[in-house]
Amino acid sequence: MKRIGILTSGGDAPGMNAAIRSVVRTAICSGMSVVGIERGYQGILDKAFREMQMRSVSDIVQRGGTILRTARCMDFHKPECQDIAIANMREEGIEGLVVIGGDGSFRGAEALSVKGFPTVGIPGTIDNDLAYTDYTVGFHTACNTCLEAIDRIRDTSSSHDRITIVEVMGRHCGDIALYTGIAGGAELIIIPEVPLTFSEIKKSLIEASQKGKSSGMVVLAEGVCGADELMRFLQRETNLSIRATVLGHQQRGGSPSMRDRLLATQFGYHAVSLLKKDIGNRVVGISKEKIIDLDIMEALAMPRKFRKDLYKMAGVVSQ
Ligand code: ADP
Ligand code: F6P
Repeated sequence: MKRIGILTSGGDAPGMNAAIRSVVRTAICSGMSVVGIERGYQGILDKAFREMQMRSVSDIVQRGGTILRTARCMDFHKPECQDIAIANMREEGIEGLVVIGGDGSFRGAEALSVKGFPTVGIPGTIDNDLAYTDYTVGFHTACNTCLEAIDRIRDTSSSHDRITIVEVMGRHCGDIALYTGIAGGAELIIIPEVPLTFSEIKKSLIEASQKGKSSGMVVLAEGVCGADELMRFLQRETNLSIRATVLGHQQRGGSPSMRDRLLATQFGYHAVSLLKKDIGNRVVGISKEKIIDLDIMEALAMPRKFRKDLYKMAGVVSQ
C-alpha cells in the first residue's frame, strides 16, 4: 500500500492527536503518503481531504482534541453512502484507512472492510468500552481530569459534612466511575454493570453515616441515571445534606497524560505496519501490556469484561 487516509470519528479523546502524529510520521518513514480526512466519515463524503506532511503534525503530541476535527455522521449508516465514500477515497488514490474512534466508528470501519476497503481501527474514546482492549486512548487522561475534580469537591464536601454525587461520563460503561471512584476514595460507586436500586443506595449512605462518616463522595456513571434525579430522591428520603455535580465535557479535553500519548503512539505505529503489509479489517489494542491486533468483526463481537475484582475491592476499602 502506498497511500493511506486517516480520520478521527465520534467523541474526541485526549491522545487522538498523538495517534495522528504517529500514523503520519510512521507512514511517511515507510514510504507511504497520508491524506488527512476532516470531520470523520462526513469528511470522506464531502471530500474534505488534506495532504499530511511530516510538519503537519508538529507540536500536537501534547494537545487535546483532534486537529482533523471529528463528527457523528448519520448518513454513514447507509450502504449507498459507504459506497460513495469508497469511490471518493479511490478517486483520491487512498488504498487503506486508519479510523481513530470508539465502538460506533469501528462499525463504520467494519462496513468499509466488508465492502473490500482495507481499514484499521485505533481505539480512541474516553469511555474504555471496547472489550478486546484493556485500554482505549483518552481513558487515562479523562480519569485524571475527573480525579482532580473529585479531590476538589471532597474538600468542600468534608468542610460542610455533605455527600456529593459526582456524575461522570462513559456512556453505557462504568469504567471511568469505577477507576476514579477507587482512586478518589469514594464511599459509593454506582455503575451500570452493578445495578443498585435507589433504596439500596439510600441504605448504604445511611449506614456510612451511622458508622461515623460525616461526609461522602458518590461517583455515579452517567449510564445509570442523572445525578440530579438521585440527589432529589435522597433529599426527599433522608436528612443527609446532598449536592450533585455533573463533570460533563471537561472530561474530554485537556493535554493527554503520558500513558495516553505513549499508547496512542504505539497504536499508530502498529496500525501503519499492518496497512504497509496490505493487511486491513483489523483493530489494534493492548492486552497485558502487549500491543495486539484483531479482526474487526471478532473484536466488536466480544462481550465486555467488567473488572469485578476492582469493584469488590472498592467495597472493602470504602468502609
Ligand atoms: P464512537 O465511535 O465514539 O462510539 P459514535 O457511536 O457516535 O461514536 O459513532 C461515530 C460515527 O461512526 C457515527 O456518527 C457514524 O458516522 C459511524 N457509525 C456508527 N455506527 C455505525 C454503523 N453501524 N455503520 C456505519 N457507520 C457507523
Ligand atoms: O463517547 C464519549 C462520550 O463523551 C460519552 O462518554 C458521552 O456519553 C458522549 O460522548 C457525549 O456525547 P456528546 O459530546 O455528543 O454530548
